[in-house]
Amino acid sequence: MNQQQRLTQWIDERLPIRQFWRNHLTGYYAPKNFNFWYFFGGFALVVLANQFLTGIWLAMFYTPTASEAFASVEYIMRDVSYGWLLRYLHSTGASLFFIVIYLHMLRSIMYGSYQRPRELIWLFGMGLFVLLLAEAFFGYLLPWGQMSYWAAQVITSLFSAIPWVGDDLAQWVRGDYNVSDVTLHRFYALHIVGIPLLLLSLVWLHLVTLHRVGSNNPDGVDIKARVDETGKPLDGMPFHPFYTVKDLFGVAIFLIVFCVIVFFFPMMGGYFLEPENFIPADPLVTPEHIAPVWYMTPFYAMLRAVPNKLGGVMTMAASVAILFILPWLDRSPVRSIRYRGVFSKIALAVLCVSFVSLGYLGTVTVTPVRQWLAQLFTLLYFAVFLLMPIYTRFETTKPVPDRVRMH
Ligand code: HEM
Repeated sequence: MNQQQRLTQWIDERLPIRQFWRNHLTGYYAPKNFNFWYFFGGFALVVLANQFLTGIWLAMFYTPTASEAFASVEYIMRDVSYGWLLRYLHSTGASLFFIVIYLHMLRSIMYGSYQRPRELIWLFGMGLFVLLLAEAFFGYLLPWGQMSYWAAQVITSLFSAIPWVGDDLAQWVRGDYNVSDVTLHRFYALHIVGIPLLLLSLVWLHLVTLHRVGSNNPDGVDIKARVDETGKPLDGMPFHPFYTVKDLFGVAIFLIVFCVIVFFFPMMGGYFLEPENFIPADPLVTPEHIAPVWYMTPFYAMLRAVPNKLGGVMTMAASVAILFILPWLDRSPVRSIRYRGVFSKIALAVLCVSFVSLGYLGTVTVTPVRQWLAQLFTLLYFAVFLLMPIYTRFETTKPVPDRVRMH
């Protein structure tokens, strides 16, 4: 045994790095037919890393007090070397995170990736989604602009819709009668430590549960059902080097798009960074039109669609909660949309159209027609899920092939 082998053995006996590499990369078999939609989980990891890195550096220059927060962000943008780059990477990263996650969720719904035995992957994913919404909401207060302040004021006051305890609860969340310096401090603590720790833990659980049962694929075929004489899935291939290289290619394209936005369109026409937020927070002047950032607007539109405050809050909460039970609403014998019946296909189309339309309606001011449309799309959104146990059970499905199909 030479020196290098002895060192490897010494480490192996104390830290199972090589075993980890074998179990999760070179010896982990993933389906051969992954397509474009399977890039997004990896992209989410890349954006997560970007948010951590740029966030740590922003925290070195940012001051979380009501009197200095706005000015410290301007200082980062104008005086700190490459501070503008750090900030744009972080703000663009937030929006791209949601684009990537919405596509990742759509993929999971299209291919029935939440069905047995992957219910826990989905549940941890949903936990991640709620945490991401919270993380984005807390982070948005930090620049202490007009929209930061008033969006936080609107959302925290939603708690007051809860009967009896509502007002006390809203005050408890803010730590004050209104959004104030105290609120900014606690949101900062949650944004940079509390939620990120929970996010990391859930990402870990998400991936542990994924590797426990293995990935689904665009055909929804169980690749473990057909193995060769050594027990390896016939329709699988080692994650490393095949998918690490493929994912690297995808990540390169993704980073190019990321850079184009950061360098040329960081505000994205007011969708990624709102013009109103370049005015310092003023508790005495309410902006004419208060709207959250685009990734929250579908839920915001549902909130506004219901005339009653408590009803709106409950509808909005239910629109997220219903996704948690998706694995138990779907009774289809097949996973992938490719082999499902016509009702599932219509339902998926209705879901996408309703969600995007609600997203748009949440960004604009309310008129009677828009109010009516928001109510219609809210109803359609819920109908897709509430009727799912019926249409998925009774529709005619196509036969699923034994082996994955390669195009
Ligand atoms: C920080 C957020 C997240 C990260 C970093 C993440 C990461 C990943 C990764 C790396 C994969 C494997 C590659 C892939 O299938 O694309 C994956 C799979 C999966 N994720 Fe996520 N994910 C996140 C959020 C979510 C959310 C919000 C959901 C749904 C509610 C979700 C549901 C799933 C499902 C069902 C799979 C298995 C898909 C399959 O095998 O077909 N994930 N995730």
